[in-house]
Amino acid sequence: MASEREHWSSRLGFILAAAGSAVGLGNIWRFPYVTGENGGAAFLIIYLSIVFSIGFSVVIAELIIGRATQLNPVGAFKRLAGGVWPVAGYVGIATAFVILSFYCVIAGWTLAYMVKSITGTVLSSDIDQVGATFSTFISDPFEPVIYTAIFAALSVLVVLRGVTHGIERAARYLMPALLVILLVLVGRSVTLEGASAGIAFFLQPDFSKVTWGTLFAALGQAFFSLSLGMGAMITYGSYLRPHDGIFGSALWVTVIDTSVAVLAGLVILPAVFAFGAEPSAGPGLTFITLPSIFAQMPLGEVFAILFFFLLVIAALTSAVSLLEVVVAYFVDEFSANRINTTMIVGAFTFVVAVPSSLSLGVWSGYTIAGKGVLDALDFLTNNITMPVGGLLIALFVGWVIKPEIVRDLVEDSKIPPIVVAAWRIVIRFVAPVAIATILVNGLV
Ligand code: PHE
Repeated sequence: MASEREHWSSRLGFILAAAGSAVGLGNIWRFPYVTGENGGAAFLIIYLSIVFSIGFSVVIAELIIGRATQLNPVGAFKRLAGGVWPVAGYVGIATAFVILSFYCVIAGWTLAYMVKSITGTVLSSDIDQVGATFSTFISDPFEPVIYTAIFAALSVLVVLRGVTHGIERAARYLMPALLVILLVLVGRSVTLEGASAGIAFFLQPDFSKVTWGTLFAALGQAFFSLSLGMGAMITYGSYLRPHDGIFGSALWVTVIDTSVAVLAGLVILPAVFAFGAEPSAGPGLTFITLPSIFAQMPLGEVFAILFFFLLVIAALTSAVSLLEVVVAYFVDEFSANRINTTMIVGAFTFVVAVPSSLSLGVWSGYTIAGKGVLDALDFLTNNITMPVGGLLIALFVGWVIKPEIVRDLVEDSKIPPIVVAAWRIVIRFVAPVAIATILVNGLV
C-alpha cells in the first residue's frame, strides 16, 4: 500500500502551485505573439470571453475529478466510471509527457538566453544579426541540447521532493518573484517613448480582423495557457483535501493566469511598437525582436536578464506540473517510489526531447507529415490530443459523473445557484461543442 497521499499545506499554496502550472511559456512567449498575429485587442477580447466561460468551467471540472478521487488521471477515471473512460486519462498522461519533452527544449532556450544576457552575447541592435545568432543557436547539435538537459534536471529536482516540499515550496518563492519582475518590466515598457501605439494596438479592438481562425486560436491558447485537457489540473486537484473549496481557487488561478498574459502583452507589444518592430513576428518575437530592442534601451542588459529569468521561472513551474502528471500516475497505480520514478521519467523526457531539438538543425530533413519533429509534436498535442482530452473531460463531468459529486462542489463553496447553473450549461453544451469544432477544424 502506498503511503498516505500528500496534500497542499494551504489554500494559498494550492493556488500558487496551480497558477504556477498555468503561467508559463504560453503566457509570456506565446500569448503576445498570437495576439500580435491575430490583430491585437479584438483577439484579446475574444480570448478573455473564452477564458472566463469555457476555460474556467473546464478548470473546475478537472479539479472536481481530482479532488473526488484523490488519484492521478487514469486512476481517477477508473474509480469514477471504468469502461473506456480511463482512456481519457491515458491520453492525458501521454500528452503531458510529449508536451513536457518539447517544452523543455524551448525552456532550455530561455535558460540559455538568460545566461547569454549575463555574458552579453545575444543583444545587438541589428535585428538581422540577432536573428542569425538565434538560428545558429537553435540549430546547433549540442548547445541547446545541454540547456534542455539542465532545465529537465531542474524540474526533476523540484518534483522528486514531493508535492508540499517540492512543488508547493517552489511556487511559493517563484510566483511572487515572477509577479515582481513582470511589473518592473511593464513599468519599463509602457514608459518608453512611442509605447502608446503598442498599448493602443493591444487595447483598442479592430473587429474587422476577426475570422473563424481567430476564435480557434483563442480557444487553443486558452486551453494551453490554463493547462487543460491533459490532466494537470486533475492531478493538482487530487492533492486538495476532499472538502477544500474549488470554485474560488479555480477563479483565482484563472485570474492570475490571464493577468500574467495581459501583463506580458504590455511588456512586449509597447516595446515592439516603440522600436518600430513587427508585432506579427511570430515565435521569434521573444528571441529575436526583443533582444534587438533590449540592445537599444538604456540598461537593456539588465532588463534582458530579468526578462529571460522571468521566462525561466514561468517555464519551470509549468514543466513541474507536466512532470507531476506522469509521476503521479506511476506512484498511484504501481506504488512506485517517487524519487526513482521522477528521475526515470526525467531521463526519458530528455531522450524524447533530443530529436525535437535536433529537428531544428541537423535532423531538419526528417519530417512527419511535412513537419519537423518539434512542430509535429506541437501540432499533435495542441490540435489533437489536448482538445480530445478536454472534450472527454467536459463530457464526463457534464453527463457521466454522479450528480452527488458535482453537488458537493456547490455545497462546499456557497456559490450562487445561478452561477452553478451557468457552469453546468457551459460544461454540458457550450464547451463540448466549441472543443469539437476546433478539433474538426484543426484536422481539416
Ligand atoms: N500552461 C502552461 C503554459 O502556459 C503550459 C502547460 C500546459 C502546463 C499543460 C501544464 C499543462 O505555458
